[in-house]
Amino acid sequence: MMNPVMPEPCTILDVHKESEHEWTFRVASDACPAHGQFMQLSIPKIGEAPISVSAQGEGWLEFTIRSVGKVTDCIFSKEPGDMLFLRGPYGKGWPVDEFAGKHIVVITGGTGLAPVRSMLRRFAEKPEYVKSVHLISGFKNEEGIIFSGDLVKWKEKFAVTYALDTDQKEGWRTGFVTEFVKEIPFDEFQGGYAVVVVGPPPMMKFTGLELMKYNVDPEKVWMSFERKMSCAIGKCGHCRIDEVYVCTDGPVFPYTTARDLVD
Ligand SMILES: Cc1cc2nc3c(=O)[nH]c(=O)nc-3n(C[C@H](O)[C@H](O)[C@H](O)COP(=O)(O)OP(=O)(O)OC[C@H]3O[C@@H](n4cnc5c(N)ncnc54)[C@H](O)[C@@H]3O)c2cc1C
Ligand code: FES
Repeated sequence: MMNPVMPEPCTILDVHKESEHEWTFRVASDACPAHGQFMQLSIPKIGEAPISVSAQGEGWLEFTIRSVGKVTDCIFSKEPGDMLFLRGPYGKGWPVDEFAGKHIVVITGGTGLAPVRSMLRRFAEKPEYVKSVHLISGFKNEEGIIFSGDLVKWKEKFAVTYALDTDQKEGWRTGFVTEFVKEIPFDEFQGGYAVVVVGPPPMMKFTGLELMKYNVDPEKVWMSFERKMSCAIGKCGHCRIDEVYVCTDGPVFPYTTARDLVD
């Protein structure tokens, strides 16, 4: 019987520096994750980290990683041709089937764009799948901008608001993503919408509260969570919050559950 937690060695095909601390690693893999799922990336004798799949294609997956510690720093020392160990995909991703034919609002903060990137790419390739996409993406400053190429392409396909927290940049707004929620024409959507929110916990908390001010239905809002994990298959309890296992019940949750998970 196959061991469900046995990592597989996979070759790094490409490393793209999105920003100083956020790099995208393209890795050879035949895995077919759903949009919003994550994989466990590991380096022998160093450790393992859950990372969302930020894009996928035939025979490859991309992971956009922020170097913050032991495992991620070690991954940053790798080059094309080196090996990474992968297991997964794990968790519940975005309910993309439910999104079909709806107006989709996506609100992200910083690297929170990574877990929605593969879904946005799909919507850009197949615009007829949804009625419209409104994307609000915020970054701390210009140095923190990731996926610059995608951001330019999405301008042509979606209604976009790109923002920096306090800095000025031509074609960009200045302010937190929460400030632009009021500009989304929810009244025009006649109930046929879904909202996706990903970012640091305070950003998700305040974006959720802002959405509620405009009478957005909490059951139509989805958020993705990052928690410390170990097994990623619902066995060890590392990711547990009360009765919820983030690794198997999530990482994507409806706001009705997510609002109790936001610290
Ligand atoms: C479902 C899921 C998807 C994720 N997707 C991405 C992604 O696409 N890109 C990305 O860069 N990161 C992602 N993360 C976060 C990533 O897993 C952590 O940053 C990573 O595990 C840190 O490992 P490390 O050994 O480098 O850092 P460590 O040396 O273990 O810790 C460095 C710091 O990061 C914190 N940390 C450690 N693990 C986590 C964790 N799982 N979640 C949040 N904080 C943590 C620690 O408390 C410490 O402050 C995701 C996490 C989850 C649970
Ligand atoms: S990480 Fe082990 S139960 Fe979720």
